[in-house]
Amino acid sequence: MSEDLLIDVQQVTLRFGGVVSLRDVSLAMRRGEILAVIGPNGAGKTSLFNSITGVYQPQEGSITFASSKAPPLSVIGKKTHRIAQAGVSRTFQASRLFSALTVFENVKIGAEDHRGIGVAGALVKGPRTRRGEHTSDKVAASMLRFVGLLDESNTVASQLSYGARRRLEIARALATDPEVILLDEPAAGTNPSEKLELTTLIRRVRDERDVSVLLIEHDMKLVMALAERIYVLNFGSMIAEGTPEEIRANPAVIDAYLGSSTEETSA
Ligand SMILES: Nc1ncnc2c1ncn2[C@@H]1O[C@H](COP(=O)(O)OP(=O)(O)O)[C@@H](O)[C@H]1O
Ligand SMILES: [Mg+2]
Repeated sequence: MSEDLLIDVQQVTLRFGGVVSLRDVSLAMRRGEILAVIGPNGAGKTSLFNSITGVYQPQEGSITFASSKAPPLSVIGKKTHRIAQAGVSRTFQASRLFSALTVFENVKIGAEDHRGIGVAGALVKGPRTRRGEHTSDKVAASMLRFVGLLDESNTVASQLSYGARRRLEIARALATDPEVILLDEPAAGTNPSEKLELTTLIRRVRDERDVSVLLIEHDMKLVMALAERIYVLNFGSMIAEGTPEEIRANPAVIDAYLGSSTEETSA
């Protein structure tokens, strides 16, 4: 793998019975970039994220994560926890916040889970967990400050606005100290001003925290404003790769996706 590659997906095929979710898909993400994956609903975008994070096990191909701290990790067949530990973090298309817990607790669980304490341990606070508590508190506070939610630390997550929930999810993903963060439709369901806030936040994740960003998003304004390169999935196949300008002008992409969705403002 060449020096600057962070995630190398090569010829991955993923099947569920007769359904082919990913067909011979390749993607090369460079260290430090903001990269977007776009495409119509059902194209395989989330399946690709699930394959990179170990949730799904593709039948063919290879996925390599090149950590800056360890030898390259061959992802397929590894457990999700092992891949997360290596430095790959994510948010989910559908929120997975603990809605009855506070903002602070949600991020702290992310930090403690990563340190091997586990979600149950983090909640029960046994003797073993107390040692790590101070560190987790500091990490949680620092991430909440970063996403602008420190003042909401004691708010129950279910009471947050939609945009704030999405920022909280990013804070929780960052609490695992990742090298790359995979964001699955981070702006879905948010209003235009929340989308602008998220655009700024995602850029700051890369610029200020030095975390590479792989992004799935339907909002083309956000994608075109953030992404340095874009990959396009359609019916499980990668049909294009290029700069935002190249993608915008690509007839196959316009035909498959952009033609009907450039005016779209929400997923
Ligand atoms: N766990 C699964 N079992 C069966 N089919 C799945 C599963 N996950 C995804 N698929 C199928 O894979 C295809 C791509 O889905 P998905 O990756 O969610 O697309 P996208 O995120 O681009 O909307 C769809 O046809 C979907 O039904
Ligand atoms: Mg999806």
